[in-house]
Amino acid sequence: MPRNFLRISDISKEDFEHLFRRSAELKAAKKAAKATHTLAGKSIALIFEKLSTRTRVSFEVAINDLGANSLYLNPNDLQLGRGETVEDTAKVLSSYLDGVILRLFEQQKLEEFAKHSTIPVINALTDLGHPTQIVADLFTIKEKGLDVGNMKLAFIGDGNNVANSFIGAAEVLGFKLAIATPRGYEPDLSSLGFSGEGVEVTNDPAEAVRGADVIYTDVWVSMGQEEGTDKRMKMFRPYQVNGELLSRASKDALVMHCLPAHRGEEITAEVADGPQSIIFDQAENKLHAGKAILEMFMKD
Ligand code: CP
Ligand code: NVA
Repeated sequence: MPRNFLRISDISKEDFEHLFRRSAELKAAKKAAKATHTLAGKSIALIFEKLSTRTRVSFEVAINDLGANSLYLNPNDLQLGRGETVEDTAKVLSSYLDGVILRLFEQQKLEEFAKHSTIPVINALTDLGHPTQIVADLFTIKEKGLDVGNMKLAFIGDGNNVANSFIGAAEVLGFKLAIATPRGYEPDLSSLGFSGEGVEVTNDPAEAVRGADVIYTDVWVSMGQEEGTDKRMKMFRPYQVNGELLSRASKDALVMHCLPAHRGEEITAEVADGPQSIIFDQAENKLHAGKAILEMFMKD
């Protein structure tokens, strides 16, 4: 059975520590223009149902830097797009490839693919979670000198896929997590199988950021949720990460966003592009952490 990365709970605290160490090594090697062909000769496909800039490009570059071949496949160009089953697709692709990276709407479809696949499957975002993002983000926080086992992170906005993966990571690593969402947009802890221990869910953003070392936000309308845009724009307005909210967090708190950002909605330009923002560091680190993840799951 291959080892898959479908959700954060698929990796342990030790795995996180290994990924952080290896991401730093791979980053240093890249900066020194040193080749690391640890996946030489392998073929790895990306199948993306949703748009992507960072995840797609960073994984494609990571695959090539590690000496493997990458194939980007739009599901509409596959027979999958006209009704071939996930099961048959997974079986056939397993006989050609050494690994697959999937960005899908439904987590269930991802699980179904993984069930019938004999090669490792990595979740590059579903409606439920974004585990590879969180590895890169926590690596970035650690790089900035914080102790990822002993910090407070405030997630402000939608109780979405990114928030869910932070809940999973807080359970594994033990950091304090506060999530502030409008009423009705909270993450559903119990149906996600989280104990929720150590996670504070509130509707008050000021309460969530109190004492926070990191403030994190994401879009108010995730891919696939466009129908609810008007209502969301009204409901989420008090949850904007702006200078006033930032002033309530710990002094020098880091500001993060997985991107793409909508300046003037979930975050002001002043904060996104201000001195406490590390949004472009975290985007860059998707490349280095992505390589560490590929090695962990796809190296022989
Ligand atoms: N953060 C992130 O996953 O960005 P993309 O949607 O551009 O891949
Ligand atoms: N929550 C966002 C994240 C994009 C990287 C979405 O799902 O669209």
